[in-house]
Amino acid sequence: MCGIVGYVGYKPVLDILLDGLEQLEYRGYDSSGIAVQCQDKVKVYKAVGKLKNLREELSPHAYEISKSTTGIGHIRWATHGAPTVVNAHPHTCNCGKLVVVHNGIIENYKELKLNLETKGCKFVSQTDTETVAHLVAQKYEITKNLTEAVKLATKEIEGAYALAIMHSDEPNKLVVTKRNAPLVIGVANNEFYAASDIPAFIKHTNRAIYLSDNQVATMTANTLKIEDIDGNIIEPKIEILPWEPVALSKMGYKHFMLKEIHEQPDVIRNILVDKLHSSELPIILDEVKLTKETLKDLNRIQIIACGTSLHAAFIGKYIIESFCAIPVDVEASSEYIYRKTVTDSHTLVIGVSQSGETADTLTAVKQSKERGSHILIITNRPDSAMAREADSLLSVNAGIEVSVAATKSYIAQLTSFYLLALYMAEIKGTMKPDILENLKHEMLVLPQKIEQILANKDNIRDCARKYSGTRDFIYIARGINYPTALEGALKLKEISYINATGYPAGELKHGPIAMLDETMPVLSILMKGCVYDKILSNSEEAKARNARMIALTNSSDKKLDDLFDFIIRVPEVDELLSPIIAIVPLQLIAYYIAEFLGKDVDQPRNLAKSVTVE
Ligand code: G6P
Repeated sequence: MCGIVGYVGYKPVLDILLDGLEQLEYRGYDSSGIAVQCQDKVKVYKAVGKLKNLREELSPHAYEISKSTTGIGHIRWATHGAPTVVNAHPHTCNCGKLVVVHNGIIENYKELKLNLETKGCKFVSQTDTETVAHLVAQKYEITKNLTEAVKLATKEIEGAYALAIMHSDEPNKLVVTKRNAPLVIGVANNEFYAASDIPAFIKHTNRAIYLSDNQVATMTANTLKIEDIDGNIIEPKIEILPWEPVALSKMGYKHFMLKEIHEQPDVIRNILVDKLHSSELPIILDEVKLTKETLKDLNRIQIIACGTSLHAAFIGKYIIESFCAIPVDVEASSEYIYRKTVTDSHTLVIGVSQSGETADTLTAVKQSKERGSHILIITNRPDSAMAREADSLLSVNAGIEVSVAATKSYIAQLTSFYLLALYMAEIKGTMKPDILENLKHEMLVLPQKIEQILANKDNIRDCARKYSGTRDFIYIARGINYPTALEGALKLKEISYINATGYPAGELKHGPIAMLDETMPVLSILMKGCVYDKILSNSEEAKARNARMIALTNSSDKKLDDLFDFIIRVPEVDELLSPIIAIVPLQLIAYYIAEFLGKDVDQPRNLAKSVTVE
């Protein structure tokens, strides 16, 4: 959701900014821009679209900025104003001396803008960010000091922001600040980095300072001063990041998404390795900091999440209720935060987020924490803002996921939910030992079963080719795989832009069946278990309306051959674990359809991997 970078030091800044922005492209790719200090001037370069357009824009200017050692950069996911060059960051004040990049939303920008216009400021863009440039510049007129101007300006700003600001009258200086948006400072010898996320600078330094809300950092090549907006000095706390600089490579796959789908067996193995040793031994989950007594007494769980994580949460509800007999509510974070909710100190609140940054989920988690609930966070980013709110932190360790469409992080969230549910069931004694043992055994062999699916992906590719011309797609399932239908449909929507919808199969006849004719593909998720026969009947109903029927099944039932036009078979698995198996072919169908349609699979239009605005 926009990414910012900044650098002040002694090295040429251009490559540092562009490489940093490349690592942040997952946050948006509507436009990009940089501002660099060139002697006593600040020069701004911008381009619409992907970063490669900015690189092209910059190539004729490379020599004139080659000596610059201070600069800021931005990659945009448009919120206010279309993705045009004018709306691209950095934004400047009217004299052009002050430049700013911003991630977040300035909520009172309209009021600020009206006020600034009466003072003579001329706005050129439709963005909320431009108000910051004019406002700080106004304060600079009074203070003649960039840090002081930023402190005064942020007292008038409402909303969320991470800001990096430069002024040509104070060359080779960077001022950064944040509120409810991520910002981390990288510390090296005689140089400082600032960024929305660590990958932007990890290849240069693993020493970092996480800025807290309302703190302002002023950096030159060899000085760093952090203070709060009232001027109280803050002692910097440098953390050593556990990160390795990773060469993000597709490893021979055409897209990151396909590579990440193939990494899923190892992702599961990595999670299980020190938590589930064998079916006879208890699950080890030291990350859960609730005492055994509290766990036993727990009478309610609330799960909050967005997007793909929300689908993992629905499956989490199903298994926690089945295994542990505790009532679980699941709600989209964006809905949860604006109503009166009843979580309290007797509720366990689980926040699920691959990025650990999603604004809605972060706000929901903070609200619940204020009400005294124990907060358990399931995330792929143990260094994220959400992780910092956690009383218990389940880090899913899926590794960096580059493709905007989440795949391996979803499987990792599911695996973590299974471990959590089985762990709680063991403590509460709510499951029969033989069932528990069997599920643990089945979990240990899940990676091989996914490998079998991946080895047979040509059949799935054929299915994708056959249906890639469709404009609509319906996925049906019941019970534990209803969220799988939602997630399969979401994957297809996200990367192919086909109008795909997941329905509980029993609901088909209450409306959606009206849409069925010989043009509509209906994919039935038919996993053996308690709802198998019911979904089969619902599929018959769809077939009777001439729909193009596809089965995703682990049954070898010959009856299916007459009912379905295309059958994707997956290995047998206990129904309760089947969502981990069933999602893989659906990820592949979405991938191959998008690829056949020539879509930008890893960076689909309008999306971003990390959504830091509400
Ligand atoms: C964005 C991403 C989705 C993701 C959702 C929630 O919309 O494009 O893939 O599921 O945010 O993100 P989170 O990081 O909280 O899981």
